[in-house]
Amino acid sequence: MTMNTQQFEERKRDHIRHALDPSNQATGQSRLGEIHLFHEALPDLDFEEIELETPVLGRGGRTPALATPFYVPGMTAGHPDAPKLNRTLALACERRGWAMGVGSQRRELEARAAGDLKSASLDAWRELRTEVPNLVLVANIGISQAIRVGSKEVQSLADSLGAQAVAIHLNALQEALQPEGTPQFRGSMSAILRLCSELKTPVILKETGCGFSRQTLARLPAQGIAGIDLSGLGGTHWGRMEGARSAAQSPQARGAVTFANWGESLVDSLHAARKVFDRPQTRPEIWASGGIRSGLDAAKAIALGANRVGFAQPALEAALQGERALDSWMAQMEYELKVALFCTGCRDPKTLREKEGVWTTSGT
Ligand SMILES: Cc1cc2nc3c(=O)[nH]c(=O)nc-3n(C[C@H](O)[C@H](O)[C@H](O)COP(=O)(O)O)c2cc1C
Repeated sequence: MTMNTQQFEERKRDHIRHALDPSNQATGQSRLGEIHLFHEALPDLDFEEIELETPVLGRGGRTPALATPFYVPGMTAGHPDAPKLNRTLALACERRGWAMGVGSQRRELEARAAGDLKSASLDAWRELRTEVPNLVLVANIGISQAIRVGSKEVQSLADSLGAQAVAIHLNALQEALQPEGTPQFRGSMSAILRLCSELKTPVILKETGCGFSRQTLARLPAQGIAGIDLSGLGGTHWGRMEGARSAAQSPQARGAVTFANWGESLVDSLHAARKVFDRPQTRPEIWASGGIRSGLDAAKAIALGANRVGFAQPALEAALQGERALDSWMAQMEYELKVALFCTGCRDPKTLREKEGVWTTSGT
């Protein structure tokens, strides 16, 4: 095993441990608490009529609708415990109609570059895919790797999973605060343009907990990006996570305190996306993650324009408790979204997203 591989495995393990620590969550910063959905005392429908089915990246009709508008964003990959955790998540996501992202495939990329096509992690994915043929799966690679590798390599990573989309993750704060980080982002925009035009798999641009400002969104190409996972400030915070991994009093640990609340809240990111992508014909799908902790949070994100809503840290926490705990937590999230739809008088997520005057901010 190369030093890099060992380092990568240890880091991914550390991340799981630190993600479970509440002090690494930017709780309350999503600003979802300031969003009020108006109560509809007279919904003109029965609770049983509520339908969560939602198309996924479905503009071209390539992927059938899923039973829910939910997904588990990419987290776990690249360490020996990952296959078991991924299997638990994948089986549950396929069964309940959630999409699922995989964690960074950097290790697979490096195995391929070294000609190691027999890598254990590549095999684990191939095996898992045969168990979940209908799961909508999103491949994952960091922008600092995407800049440096050819589109062919990224395509073959996606193909090895049978992925329906590839997420290019953006993590500037994490790379800048990570002791062994790779904050080399020069050329990112041209890498995004290249991948969008050369990959046959749709591209999702994904933040990792710091969200998107209006200025960044406005710089993105008008066409070609299939989806944007806003992953806003309000949940797992990579400044805090990397700070927790750094040696006490190191520049990174002290920087992590300074930047503990850095980022664009999920709500601000959603507002920015609505303003920038105001033409339905060229609007990428908006996926919302970062601090979504209940079915009501999910309903608020949908009312603000999200097509799909993701729970990362809570899904990890439930999956670590086992299949039954995960299944019952997922059922609870679906139930709470249905309650919110019923009490706003909406039959489905699309109606909630398109309904005028369904939300306000506190005090207005
Ligand atoms: C343990 C852990 C590992 C993660 N690894 C990745 C990753 O490899 N690639 C990625 O795009 N995002 C990764 N993320 C970020 C999540 O996909 C998500 O954007 C972020 O955690 C915000 O969602 P949350 O507040 O629901 O946790 C990871 C998150 C956690 C908790």
